Formats: sequence, structure tokens, C-alpha cells
Amino acid sequence: MSEQSTFTASLLKWFVTHGRELPWRGIDDPYGIWVSEIILQQTRIEQGRDYWHRFMERFPTVEALAAASEDEVLRQWQGLGYYSRARNMHAAARQIVDQGAFPSTFDGLRALKGVGDYTAAAVASMAFGVPVAAVDGNVYRVLARHYGIDQPINTTAGKRTFWLMAQELVPEREASAFNQAMMDFGAIWCTPRSPRCIDCPVAETCVALRTGRVAQLPVKEKKVKVQQRRFSYVYIRHGGMVALRRRPAGDIWQGLWEPLMVEAAPLPDLGCPLTLVASGVKHVLTHRVLYADFYLAEPDVRPALPPDYCWIAEDEVINYARPRLVVKLTDLLSTASR
Ligand code: ADE
Repeated sequence: MSEQSTFTASLLKWFVTHGRELPWRGIDDPYGIWVSEIILQQTRIEQGRDYWHRFMERFPTVEALAAASEDEVLRQWQGLGYYSRARNMHAAARQIVDQGAFPSTFDGLRALKGVGDYTAAAVASMAFGVPVAAVDGNVYRVLARHYGIDQPINTTAGKRTFWLMAQELVPEREASAFNQAMMDFGAIWCTPRSPRCIDCPVAETCVALRTGRVAQLPVKEKKVKVQQRRFSYVYIRHGGMVALRRRPAGDIWQGLWEPLMVEAAPLPDLGCPLTLVASGVKHVLTHRVLYADFYLAEPDVRPALPPDYCWIAEDEVINYARPRLVVKLTDLLSTASR
């Protein structure tokens, strides 16, 4: 037996004795299986079980679900959260009834509202025996550890790697059992913390165990949180001059020039009205999204400026290096209002 089929066989054997008893296991109704998968997308099994029973009692068939009002569907879903799941499922039930049959292929399922790659694979394999891998968070962990893969699981390339690996392992005739075995094994044996390596059925071939990396795998790439900032620029024009400053160190755009700028502070009193020229101009940087409001001030009397600003002849401004966002502003003002 190849190593792959040994792994697959070991997991299938483990599943026979340790697989969880779930109400939608052992049924072959694609509708019931699909409902269970949608519920389990963001809900723990213990809570999902009761909801599944109630939902199936109230809407026993895809036709019954399609015929219900959205309000009624949402009422049954109440308390589960992520209500778009219920709305999408209701819309998908109507899609299915219009089509005249429950889709039985990966692509047919994937075309339903609210059904992504994982759910399409799960339903295709469990309800129709299609040999396609359903890779959820548990499966990523099992594969990353057993094969010692440190590629991040939350990147497009990583997802593809893991999907291809899982696909290699799916047995042609036992896709349903294999997919569910992988999920259960990840959920109750190869757990994130304190996995049961001592009595693991595939310990002998586990790369992470052999190399002491069980706790390090799988790897997730840290997503840098996109920071949002709101800038208000006041373009002060007086006697053919505008007020600019060079941006200091310690923030974005160090050394570039900009008009008077306030962030999270009241607009300055310049003794004249401020005309809003543009509002909420969006500017995307690598880890930031900026929203800018542009104001024009044309005071009769030259106002005092904060210490780091100076007066520059307006037709010289193009010679000063400015962030693109500020170029947008100066272009807008130098063409529109002179
Ligand atoms: N999570 C989602 N669907 C599942 C299933 N059929 N078995 C185990 N865990 C699951």
C-alpha cells in the first residue's frame, strides 16, 4: 500500500470506532445534508444539532423551504446568528425548485447561493458519493501536521496546496466517510491544543510528531489589520500663496509636502468660511485606508500658521513633492477655483 492509502485506510478505520454520531449521518437526503452543512458553517455541533432537528421538522423538504416566507425562515433561524446563511439558503431552495432537481455535482452545488467550495464538496461527497475533498479548518490542521507543511493555510496558494493534497487522499468509493473522518479526527483527536498523539492511528507517519512541530502547525499568516484614518486638509490661499508644511518623521509620507491637515481634531478658525470641496475621498495604502475631506479657505487677512507651515507661491506648488492624495487636492483646487 502506498503511504497515501495507508493514511486513508487508517483514518477510515479510526472513523468506524470513533466517528461522532450525528443526526444527518447515515441519511442520504441531500437536502438534510445541505441544511446541516449550512448550519455548521458558523455554529458548533452541539447547538447545531437541535436547530437542525427543528428546521427539518418545520421545513422537511426543499419544496417546503422554498414555499415558506423569508420571515418564517428567519424565525426558525433565530438565535443562530449570521442570518445571511438563512436568507441565502431560502433563495437557494427556490433556485433548486426552479431547476426541478437537487444538483448532484460539485459545480451544480457550487452555483447555489451561499454555497462555497467547502460546502459544495461536502454535500457532493456525502449525498452523492462524488470523490471530492471537503477541506475545513480541521482538515487543514490534520494535513499540515501529518505531512509537516508550513505553508500558511489562510492564503490562496496555501489553500490550493492543501486542497490538492486532500484530493490525492480521497478514496474513489468512500469520499463521504473519508471527508467526515478527517473532520472528526481533527475535531476530537488532532485538536489545536493537547492533541492525542499518544494513541494517534497515524502517529508513525506524522512528520510534525517526528520533528517536534505539532504545536507549531498549522501556520497562519498574520493578517495586518487595515487601519482607517480620516484626514481633513485645508488649502489656505492668500495673496497668490498657499500654506504648506513638510511632513515630519514618525508617520506616513515623511518629508513630503501638504497643506494644513488635521486628523481627529476640530477644523482651525482662520477668520473666514471653509468651503468643502470634496468629502470622503478614499485613498488606499498597503495597510491603511484613508478618507480625506478637502476644504478651501481664502482669508482676506493672512492668518497665523502653526509653526511648521510656510507660505509658498501657488504656481510653485507643483515643484514640491506631495503624496498622491495631496496632488489630487491641489489639482482639484488649482484648476477648479482659480
Ligand atoms: N462539520 C461540518 N460538517 C461536518 C460533518 N458532516 N461531520 C463532522 N464535522 C462537520
